[in-house]
Amino acid sequence: MNVRINPSILSADFVNFQSEFSTIGNADAIHVDVMDGHFVPNLTFGLPMVKRMLEIAELPLDVHLMIENADELAVAYADAGAKSVSFHQEASNSPVSLARRIRSSGAQASIAIKPGTAVDFILDNLSEFDMVLIMTVEPGFGGQRFMEDMLAKVRVARAEINRSGLTTSIQVDGGIDDETIVQAAQAGANCFVAGNAIFGKSDRGRQIDLLRDLAQKFSSH
Ligand code: DX5
Ligand code: ZN
Repeated sequence: MNVRINPSILSADFVNFQSEFSTIGNADAIHVDVMDGHFVPNLTFGLPMVKRMLEIAELPLDVHLMIENADELAVAYADAGAKSVSFHQEASNSPVSLARRIRSSGAQASIAIKPGTAVDFILDNLSEFDMVLIMTVEPGFGGQRFMEDMLAKVRVARAEINRSGLTTSIQVDGGIDDETIVQAAQAGANCFVAGNAIFGKSDRGRQIDLLRDLAQKFSSH
């Protein structure tokens, strides 16, 4: 299983991103939370800031869009050079055509669902997505408690991906730490976002290695 650890910079120092990036060099990608204050009750930054991050980051960017109107706004992040672009199913009128446009712009297309959204639509359209992001907290803020009951969605998605012979990644985001990563890995996730559990530590590189080792050890797929 190709395990990936993507630190979420929502928990980083927003006025020192360049030095913050240098503390997570052994991660697989940088998880960038774009929030518009409408889709979620929090506001971070938009495309100009992400473009600047793309210029300074040595790692690929994994952009998580928590914005309304994804159909109009998401492709620009792919065009700018993000490695993957996650948009929310709840914010798109036509997720399959949006995913196709993201892919044709050269990025991996990823569909995200909030805790209250069922995984059925994704299961019916799996081959259209490179990654599925199953939120394990209500999106909007870092430092929330992991919602264990979301693992049922991870399990069913993993079973369907394996059954269909696809290589779609399953990302979990929210409340991931050295305990919950074990549960998520056992359920079938392979890409793990962690904010507080990484940026809250003084030795972030070591914490990333620890999380990766745990995920690899307990990954059952
Ligand atoms: C929440 C964001 C997450 C968040 C995770 O809406 O999508 O990426 O930063 O933070 P932790 O790991 O602290 O729950
Ligand atoms: Zn996120």
